Amino acid sequence: MKFFIDTANLDQIKEAHDLGILDGVTTNPSLMAKEGITGKGNIMKHYKAICDVVPGDVSAEVISTDYKGMMKEAGELADIAPNIVVKIPMIKDGIKAISSLTENGIATNCTLVFSAGQAILAAKAGATYVSPFIGRIDDINWDGLQLINQIAEIYAIQGFDTEILAASIRSSLAIVESAEAGADVVTCPLSSILGLLKHPLTDIGLEQFLADHKKGN
Ligand code: E4P
Repeated sequence: MKFFIDTANLDQIKEAHDLGILDGVTTNPSLMAKEGITGKGNIMKHYKAICDVVPGDVSAEVISTDYKGMMKEAGELADIAPNIVVKIPMIKDGIKAISSLTENGIATNCTLVFSAGQAILAAKAGATYVSPFIGRIDDINWDGLQLINQIAEIYAIQGFDTEILAASIRSSLAIVESAEAGADVVTCPLSSILGLLKHPLTDIGLEQFLADHKKGN
């Protein structure tokens, strides 16, 4: 399973990268705005800075919602670095853009996916990744993980190559559960990744080992 970090914060990206377990990065316009990165030039520079740190896939989202606009933006984003994955929303023109970009050998991440039907369309269009937003589904009291399960089952039955990227993850437990449900990739905040380290028995055990070592010296 791949680990992506879901942020535009360069310090956090570097920290996750230094752990040696980071396979990529996802961003979105809200995450860019959160870091105070505004204006096309600054946003493009920031994507370049992220790609300079992380050799794995870096999702960069288009702002246009029409086919022509998305294709233009996708070309500009793909020119930033070879590891850019163009993030395209799950809308009619988005599916058309994903099909064309796939034909042109440009990697895509179909974002804002909330149903199995949408995931089938993304796979049919040839998306490299499909991003079901499990946290946002849970927010409205539906079952985000169940969707991951369902997509994983459909993709296995149909032999689709599109990778399931479990997005909108807000806890360490959701990472584990997404892995169990068949996600190929999880994208999550640094805090959720670091939360995987935690277990009280590890802390107690380590304290005991160090204390016993001290006694014997
Ligand atoms: C996915 O690519 C999105 O950037 C992200 O996971 C959305 O998460 P949120 O629902 O916590 O905003």
